[in-house]
Amino acid sequence: MATIVGGFTTAHTPTIGFAVDTNKQNDPVWAPIFKGYEPVQQWLKETAPDVILYIFNDHMTSFFIDHYSQFALGVGEIYPVADEGGGARELPPLHGDPELAEHIAKGLVADEFDLSYFQNKGLDHGCFSPMSLLFPEHKQGWPTKIIPFQVGVLQAPSPSAARCYKLGKSLRRAILNYPKDIKVAIAGTGGLSHQVHGERCGFNNTPWDMEFMERLASDPEGLTKYTIFQLAELGGLEGAEIVMWLMMRGALSEKVETIHQTYYLPSMTPIASMVLEERSNEGLEENHDDYMKRINHQLAGFETLEGTYPFTITRGVKAFRLNNFLHDLIHPEHRKLFLEDQEASFEKYELTEEERDLVRRLDWRGLIHYGVIFFMLEKLGAVVGTTNIHIYAAMKGMSLEDFQKTRNAQVLYSVAGKEKGKTDWDKEQSSK
Ligand SMILES: [Fe+2]
Repeated sequence: MATIVGGFTTAHTPTIGFAVDTNKQNDPVWAPIFKGYEPVQQWLKETAPDVILYIFNDHMTSFFIDHYSQFALGVGEIYPVADEGGGARELPPLHGDPELAEHIAKGLVADEFDLSYFQNKGLDHGCFSPMSLLFPEHKQGWPTKIIPFQVGVLQAPSPSAARCYKLGKSLRRAILNYPKDIKVAIAGTGGLSHQVHGERCGFNNTPWDMEFMERLASDPEGLTKYTIFQLAELGGLEGAEIVMWLMMRGALSEKVETIHQTYYLPSMTPIASMVLEERSNEGLEENHDDYMKRINHQLAGFETLEGTYPFTITRGVKAFRLNNFLHDLIHPEHRKLFLEDQEASFEKYELTEEERDLVRRLDWRGLIHYGVIFFMLEKLGAVVGTTNIHIYAAMKGMSLEDFQKTRNAQVLYSVAGKEKGKTDWDKEQSSK
């Protein structure tokens, strides 16, 4: 069974990554940053977690207001560094753990924390800034996998401190019930008191930061009573992102010991970190078998339903490349390339031979078996000028005529819009 080796907190200001990239170790102004993180580096080396459950917020880089979600779980296999405007930092990508992520997703959703799932997104300084300092040998590759957990703290109404703390407890249940024998560390990231916008920018409150760190260990429940406004009043609006520290704390045992704490305020954001180790063993309120049964309850039985394929995280990760290729057909330029030079479009998306073959042959049933979600099929159908009914018939292994006999009315339709030639079948239908 998986174990939690402890938790750590860290600021995730870009200052840290900048100091690493420009080798400021021996500069007296910057040196305290490096010094302060040495105990965390050491702790990570000694505990050697297989996975870090990394709680952070993105800064309108990969998660934008066109679709902003509160709790986004990274389920993918690989996470590159995001470009935040001046080119991406030169760091190797982090590897994910889709299997553990899916288990956590089941656990949290069963506990009524409905999530969004993401993959194939770059992670910004919220992740890579501290990671590059925490693992000084990262150039040779990261010694740990990561499950990024993005919290939408930037657009109000955002999750409360109490909600985040509770979610942390759900994370704890999920991790401690994960059947594989792995070690997991929990990271809660974000700046203590700071504000980076408006006339109040530059606000700091060191006495409050000290109190918060002390109470994070000894009185986390008390900290959950603060509203987002009260946290912002005490620690600046952007400083209210410390709800993510509370989420980490919720994932640890009731009693913890702070084995390391550092605080340095060079400019706008305190560069602070803590390492907390568990000092009590309350046990979980339900046994492992009951937990697994509960988190699998909603999907139990699908294996007995023939011809039905729930689109799970496993399917979404396995068939991401092909689903992405087909999804991008909503963009006219990709559609054009696909129709004019199919092989070049396959090459551009680095599809495997198996994937190319399925698309070339418009093997509708094969595509579903491979892990493509139906709604990509109807897009592909619209692009090649066929109908949904043709696709349904093919999935059932029937002729169009025979399938139509099973319907009350023999109509044809698709999701095609106004593009020329995409609904020619309708002319034949109308002339009948
Ligand atoms: Fe942040």
